[in-house]
Amino acid sequence: MSNEPQAFGFHSKIERNVSLLLVLSLLVVTIGGIVEIVPTFLLQNTIEKVQGMRPYTPLELAGRNIYIREGCYLCHSQMIRPFRDEVERYGHYSLAAESMYDHPFQWGSKRTGPDLARVGAKYSNEWHVEHLTNPRSVVPESVMPPYAFLANNELDTSSISGHLKTLRVVGVPYTDDMIANAEADMKSQGNPDADNKAFQARYPKAVVGNFGGGKPGKPTEMDALVAYLQMMGTLVDFQAYNPAENER
Ligand code: HEC
Repeated sequence: MSNEPQAFGFHSKIERNVSLLLVLSLLVVTIGGIVEIVPTFLLQNTIEKVQGMRPYTPLELAGRNIYIREGCYLCHSQMIRPFRDEVERYGHYSLAAESMYDHPFQWGSKRTGPDLARVGAKYSNEWHVEHLTNPRSVVPESVMPPYAFLANNELDTSSISGHLKTLRVVGVPYTDDMIANAEADMKSQGNPDADNKAFQARYPKAVVGNFGGGKPGKPTEMDALVAYLQMMGTLVDFQAYNPAENER
């Protein structure tokens, strides 16, 4: 001790006394933890509310499940960052509210292909079917694999109400009405000739159409995936969106 500089005297006491070091380290970590964690409990709302967000329709949700099953997230992100180059290429940066009903979220971390957060309504249904069937037929230099088999796979419609119920457990506001009608809604969204009034009241802004070329009333996995792609990023009306309104 005697030959150490004066200023380090106290510190060397801590470093040589394991129990004291442990107690003081725990104290420091506790203070740091409290400072980080307490504010999140005091915040009323971490996701700003925006108009237009609604849960996925049964057909879109089935498409999303196929997107996850096929690993599309390995090459595509769904998160437009607030940088000028991204906003100019893809459109308005992604809002937290836009993935509030996503379990699990699909932000992704790899862009072999472009971001898909706002791909909805960018192309026609026919383009998507052609592209998914054989990407090189529409984009010759594409390295995307083909997914032609989706058009031959009949969509499993029997389990969809279970998916809605499960999502309700984790906070997605599916109503009893939506769950009871899930299977019927799934079939009618892909059938422009069906009576879709009740369906559209349940899911505002939902687009009805023949998405993947499947027979009306008998949707294929291609129908579901294209329905999902076509709604991506289309729910929030950015002409009416004013970020300042949401500031606290
Ligand atoms: C091996 C990586 C890879 C995988 C896996 C992949 N893609 Fe792609 N995707 C690409 C590339 C590269 C492009 C750009 C060239 C093109 O348009 O084909 C692309 C383009 C796209 C586009 C057009 C985007 C635009 O704005 O022009 C869509 C839509 C798309 N992919 C959907 C999907 C879906 C759905 C899946 C899963 C079924 C998927 N991709 C799987 C690599 C991939």
